[in-house]
Amino acid sequence: MKAAVLRETYPGERRVAIVPAVVPQLAKLGLEVVLEPGAGAGADHPDSEYEAKGAQIAADRAAALNAADVVLQVRSLGANPEAGRADLDLFRRGQVVIGTCDPLGNPGAVKELADRGVTLFALEMIPRITRAQSMDVLSSMATIAGYKAVLLAANHLPKLFPMLMTAAGTLTPAKVLVIGAGVAGLQAIASARRLGAVVQAYDVRPAVKEQIESLGAKFVELPLDTSGSEDKGGYAKQLTEEQQQQQRDLLADVIADCDVCISTAAIPGRPSPLLITDSAVERMRPGSVIVDLAAERGGNCGLTCADETKVIHGVTILGPTNLPSEVPQHASQMFARNVATLLGLLMKEGQVDVDFNDEVIRETLAAKDGQVQNQRLREMLDLGPLQLPASEPPVNHLADGGAS
Ligand code: NAI
Repeated sequence: MKAAVLRETYPGERRVAIVPAVVPQLAKLGLEVVLEPGAGAGADHPDSEYEAKGAQIAADRAAALNAADVVLQVRSLGANPEAGRADLDLFRRGQVVIGTCDPLGNPGAVKELADRGVTLFALEMIPRITRAQSMDVLSSMATIAGYKAVLLAANHLPKLFPMLMTAAGTLTPAKVLVIGAGVAGLQAIASARRLGAVVQAYDVRPAVKEQIESLGAKFVELPLDTSGSEDKGGYAKQLTEEQQQQQRDLLADVIADCDVCISTAAIPGRPSPLLITDSAVERMRPGSVIVDLAAERGGNCGLTCADETKVIHGVTILGPTNLPSEVPQHASQMFARNVATLLGLLMKEGQVDVDFNDEVIRETLAAKDGQVQNQRLREMLDLGPLQLPASEPPVNHLADGGAS
């Protein structure tokens, strides 16, 4: 079987779905890589490196797609809403497409891919269970974003992060607040600590207190009852409007005292919770920095503009939406290993075997046989329940608004 690795067409995207080092791993599974020329260039992998590892270089994108049984992309339609549209006509019925496609943000794109007849695996839907950790692209990319957010903040802050005792006196360390201690937040805490900052972190899930403290940061406890805020998948649930208001008010005091605020609070499939208000920003010291990693879904700060840097009330507010692409070598390496591990699960005797009994496969499968497969996506699209043979359990992990 052949697996096409395509050049990403999303504006500014530098990652590639498969790096040369992973080509032999796919060959062992029975997948020969066919590369669109220049696919790895953004991540500094020339075509010759792929060739040296046994990949074929196609004449162009259409030829790569035409040859392919499996298509591997960082961003399929949905995660690449405009430029990704051009691929729709090139995909073949029955072709397997594996990539991110923003299924909860853009379910209509999944429908379009289903209509085209492709078998789509949406990488965002890999369940966050132990067995799937090695395939979890979102965790990999959030790790990179958390790290990079700290570097961005350090670059913009008119202060140093570490405490320095110098002949010219003592410099006090920067105070960093991380809001949301999921994957990105925990990496931000660790990275800010490595740079010498004094770090505190807040999350609505009390269970993360221990993780925050194990990284050397202080857990911010707000007098707010959020004990029911975690769903069975370990994700945060949406708070009531009253709880959200209380949370914003209580957080404002903590925010006012920090030099850097890195916000990563997210609830799968919902807009980012608003946690940093205009008046909270106004209370920060001039020169302070906010890096709002939730910018893509509206941001945790009401003043965030996606992919822009604004200075408001003397505070620099950054809303980067694609930090992994700014670290393309390692981001691609992680992405490629995650995809190769998923393919290891999917491939049986050199063929793609969609085993509905496997939770990871079942939950990641977004479209097959012309139908949207995931129940929550079907509800979002008003498609009604999927008629499945009795032996095939429904794809339903998102139905309670929990895990992504
Ligand atoms: P995650 O789901 O692991 O973590 C989100 C955390 O936010 C959870 O710990 C959750 O409990 C917490 N949270 C939810 N509501 C909250 C509230 N009201 N108050 C406090 N905490 C709350 O997500 P992950 O993977 O760490 O991603 C975090 C964010 O970073 C997401 O918005 C994701 O889209 C974004 N991201 C951004 C990138 C960029 O380049 N800007 C790249 C990768 C991820």
